[in-house]
Amino acid sequence: MTTDILVIGGGIAGLSFAIKTARKRPDLNIIVLTKTVENESNTRYAQGGVAAVWDFEKDNFKKHIADTLDAGAGLCGKKAVEIVVKEGPERVREIIEWGTRFDKQGAAYDLGREGGHTENRILHFKDLTGWEIQRALIAEAKKFENIKIEEHYFAVDIITQHHLGYHINRVTPDIECYGCYALNKKNNHIETFLAKLTIMATGGTGQVYKNTTNPRIATGDGIAMFYRAKGRVENMEFVQFHPTALYNPAGENPDFLVSEAVRGFGGILKTKEGEEFMQRYDERGSLAPRDIVARAIDNEMKVRGTECMYLDCRHLDKQKFYEHFPTIYDKCKSIGIDPMEQMIPVVPACHYMCGGIQTDAYGRTSIKNIYACGECSCTGLHGANRLASNSLLEALVYAHRISEDVLKRADKVKIKEGIPNWNAEGTTDPLELVLMTQSTKELKEIMSGYVGIVRSNVRLKRALDRLFILYQETEDLYHATKLSPQLCELRNLITIAYLITRSAALRRESRGLHYTTDYPKELPFLDTTIL
Ligand code: FAD
Ligand code: SIN
Repeated sequence: MTTDILVIGGGIAGLSFAIKTARKRPDLNIIVLTKTVENESNTRYAQGGVAAVWDFEKDNFKKHIADTLDAGAGLCGKKAVEIVVKEGPERVREIIEWGTRFDKQGAAYDLGREGGHTENRILHFKDLTGWEIQRALIAEAKKFENIKIEEHYFAVDIITQHHLGYHINRVTPDIECYGCYALNKKNNHIETFLAKLTIMATGGTGQVYKNTTNPRIATGDGIAMFYRAKGRVENMEFVQFHPTALYNPAGENPDFLVSEAVRGFGGILKTKEGEEFMQRYDERGSLAPRDIVARAIDNEMKVRGTECMYLDCRHLDKQKFYEHFPTIYDKCKSIGIDPMEQMIPVVPACHYMCGGIQTDAYGRTSIKNIYACGECSCTGLHGANRLASNSLLEALVYAHRISEDVLKRADKVKIKEGIPNWNAEGTTDPLELVLMTQSTKELKEIMSGYVGIVRSNVRLKRALDRLFILYQETEDLYHATKLSPQLCELRNLITIAYLITRSAALRRESRGLHYTTDYPKELPFLDTTIL
């Protein structure tokens, strides 16, 4: 299969890029791959909304920039922050033009508040903002004949000079991307997709932990593929745990999120006995940035030996609560909690990967002809901790910038010839799937037990030792077994787990989302580049 532009991923990043590019160049063919159905993505589950300066009478760029920098704990790229905050409103206006609905109060948009924001600036659609954005983007993309969304195609590896027989390592200059190999899940064949330019937009990595708000597709495939191809990734130690996933004793994957917008609406974190505790950790109380709130909840649970803490919404107006948070209300009711009568039990869960594929201001990466966009990228915006609702905004802004760069370059790049087909020689069907499912379980246990919200040297070393065994076993399986989505995901998750743990071990300080009991203070400068 050849195409002008290959987009791996059909969430907000991949689709908004495809729509922009297709509109400006109807003569360019764009293929968008999704590993399952077209509307399954992290995007679809976003609840709180999109942060953007909207009410210029009360808010301004300076304040949004300051809030983002403050949350990022000194590691944000200032240029990236300025770009996203200043270009954000225009990009949000575009998706409104493409049919995205946001809630209004009268004629004006109803702007919500979340942790770390000093103003109300979150545009939202009830508690289903991501679902609405995904719906509108798919509908808009389908208007373009030159966009083809291919469902159930699992990208396995990006193609580089390595596949032409050249030896490549992490310091090889001018590595180039020619497309990707992808497993067609409908017939189990590995197909070759050749493209002039490729956009990696594969989303998050949450499934590396036992408890996560991320859907099952979030296995870090793009970051893992890119790292295997010897590209540069960074900031992988900064894994954001959302403070308030719904505590469901029955267990579920993914964990259901109770949006931070509920706290913005007046919900208060409390102990089982009904006492507020957040003021002891931060003067902003329940609306402090996420790293602080998640750590506080984790600490309170450990000290008290409890399974969860509580979010009290009983004092809020029932009608208004239901209008704003119908999905959260119904979900709580489905497990026997009436949020208007009982406190909602909550626990922290892995939520967002702040690190990823290193990019510049136009989404360009260390490998030529491949860009990265959305949660799999690391643009510099989030630094050591992402400000709530900045992620959807970042994806929109960088999709636009990547599109601008792609439009300048698409006619200058040629499709590479002579790429061999995938070589599956010597592999056989797996005898037992239990080897993979068991290893995946072990991996999640290791990461949740040793590389969670609070880390230490001993825990990180233990994790690395155990990950190495899993890595060896899985590589053996990979070389002997026909590829399956389960095997690819396990292999990718192990790579992600390694990158998180190794980066955490290299960061001998506590900063933002990375907290270690061995080095509880921030240092002025630390190089944690993984070569
Ligand atoms: P995704 O939307 O995850 O899309 C990834 C795409 O890549 C999918 O189409 C998938 O099929 C495809 N893909 C992945 N691997 C492969 C592969 N190997 N081969 C082929 N295709 C592949 N952010 C906010 O700003 N505001 C919020 O309110 C908010 N709420 C959130 C609530 C929840 C529960 C979650 C989980 C996240 C939330 N976030 C929020 C974060 C935000 O939703 C994500 O960061 C963002 O949607 C990521 O978009 P994306 O396009 O990068 O990736
Ligand atoms: C939420 O609704 O709490 C999630 C917002 C985000 O992840 O940005």
